[in-house]
Amino acid sequence: MERDEFLSKLSLGVLLACTGCGLVSCSKKGDPSPANSNTPTPGSGTVFTADLSTTLLNIGDTKVANGVILARIAAGNTAASFTAVQVACTHEGTAINYNQNQGIFICPLHGSEFSTTGQVIMGPAAAALQRFTVSVNGSIATVTA
Ligand code: FES
Repeated sequence: MERDEFLSKLSLGVLLACTGCGLVSCSKKGDPSPANSNTPTPGSGTVFTADLSTTLLNIGDTKVANGVILARIAAGNTAASFTAVQVACTHEGTAINYNQNQGIFICPLHGSEFSTTGQVIMGPAAAALQRFTVSVNGSIATVTA
């Protein structure tokens, strides 16, 4: 074996070994993110309020607090104008986002998709998001567990 051929094969071997390391670390499950541990317990009461005169003014706007994401899904200040679900993806706990164009929640880590009611549209998540009650009184929206 010539020196150049040996070095070429050695480089390929190192490259494959490093790629293998990367794949192993990608599939390794990490600890749940903090967002996964603070989803409110059902029946625990008010999660947070939002002043609709200053926040959530446009369809697609969101507010995240205390483990819940509140999203405006329609115009007007009625309960039906909003939806609230746990912010932690049921797959591995990454914080989800609301995608206004598609009208769904999407997890940025592995791409799970959830309806506005929290049902799984596409995995890898297998479980639905916990949904919370939204009520509107005047210009105050209240999320309740
Ligand atoms: S953590 Fe959300 S899809 Fe994996």
